[in-house]
Amino acid sequence: MEIRALGMSAAEFLSQYWGKAPLLVRGAFESDALASVSPDELAGLAVEQDVVSRLVFNEPPDSPSQWRVEFGPFEGSEFARLPESNWTLLVQEVDRHVAGVSDLMTPFRFLPNWRFDDVMVSFAVAGGGVGAHIDRYDVFLVQGSGKRLWQIGESPVHTPDLVEHDELQLLREFEPAFSWEVGPGDLIYLPPGFAHSGVALTESLAYSVGFRMPSVRDILVEYAEDYAAAIDRERLLRLSVDGPTEAPGLIDAGTLDAVRSIIRAIAYDEAAIDDWYCRHISVGSRRMPEFDAAEEGPIGAEDVVAHLQAGARLVRTRPTSFVYLPVADDRAALYVEGVRYDLESLIFARLLTGTEALSAERLEPFLNSAANVRVLAELVANAHLELQR
Ligand code: SIN
Ligand code: CO
Repeated sequence: MEIRALGMSAAEFLSQYWGKAPLLVRGAFESDALASVSPDELAGLAVEQDVVSRLVFNEPPDSPSQWRVEFGPFEGSEFARLPESNWTLLVQEVDRHVAGVSDLMTPFRFLPNWRFDDVMVSFAVAGGGVGAHIDRYDVFLVQGSGKRLWQIGESPVHTPDLVEHDELQLLREFEPAFSWEVGPGDLIYLPPGFAHSGVALTESLAYSVGFRMPSVRDILVEYAEDYAAAIDRERLLRLSVDGPTEAPGLIDAGTLDAVRSIIRAIAYDEAAIDDWYCRHISVGSRRMPEFDAAEEGPIGAEDVVAHLQAGARLVRTRPTSFVYLPVADDRAALYVEGVRYDLESLIFARLLTGTEALSAERLEPFLNSAANVRVLAELVANAHLELQR
């Protein structure tokens, strides 16, 4: 099946481009998706406490020592004082804060939910750019408004030679192989490791739909931390001293055995590891302190059914945060933003985590189970689903 935004089938894209080669698609997106955020709304987000944002100034002359970064949250008045050219405002996880932005992810939903990271939005004035750099992730750059010139290297850089800079990881040398001027609706796919540099030719707003690859070090450290956090601090490795020793420097076999069993126990329980990973990966990589509570407060299970029957639908607030794991007897564990919900059926899990709209009609077959309805009400209460009338 052809993915319009890519101008080819998902299978062809995956075999030819994903992780391998940059791609430019002209006119990939229609104008309504592109207008999801305005520059003013973006500035409005950058003053919020729970939003990650930064301003990059690349003041001429364009030498990296002239580059400066300021981190948000910003004061509203700071935006009024900005120069006319050569700066970029970048805001992370805009898909969490602005409804409609996650629609930009829709064409790419042939990729697993857990691979999605966030939609970052950047607004640059003429001359603004964050410099030549590499990212470790796959990204779709969607031009929202204005024009930007993207220059992209020939092949992935494995050991980048970086300029000394406290906040920016700029490449000392950059030889572009592609030079693409993009306008509204144009899309560039960039695999990990390809050097790139974008410069705004006019005021320019761009969306970056970013993907992640979990770091092995993070998996190990975070699993071990979570595992250890559940162990009582008072639990000690109590070993008896069975008699006087003539070799006080010797660490005996019994002690080593006991230590080995403690460490082996971390990796012993496969179900616990799977559960941990699903919980972990269903949380955004930047781990916001808490998800927003539902505006409407707790909602009863009967109310959810009543609303659905009256024609409401349920909308996933962040569709790619929904993942599931099959468990015994065709049941499923659903995970959303670190919370686990036990489901009676795999089909229900597929529906909730998939791309289909959650209309009353589509949910109907599942509403005769009180347990299912309870899960829907909990998802609404936790703001993972929103009732839309
Ligand atoms: C930008 O949108 O200005 C920067 C995006 C990137 O290069 O990753
Ligand atoms: Co980049």
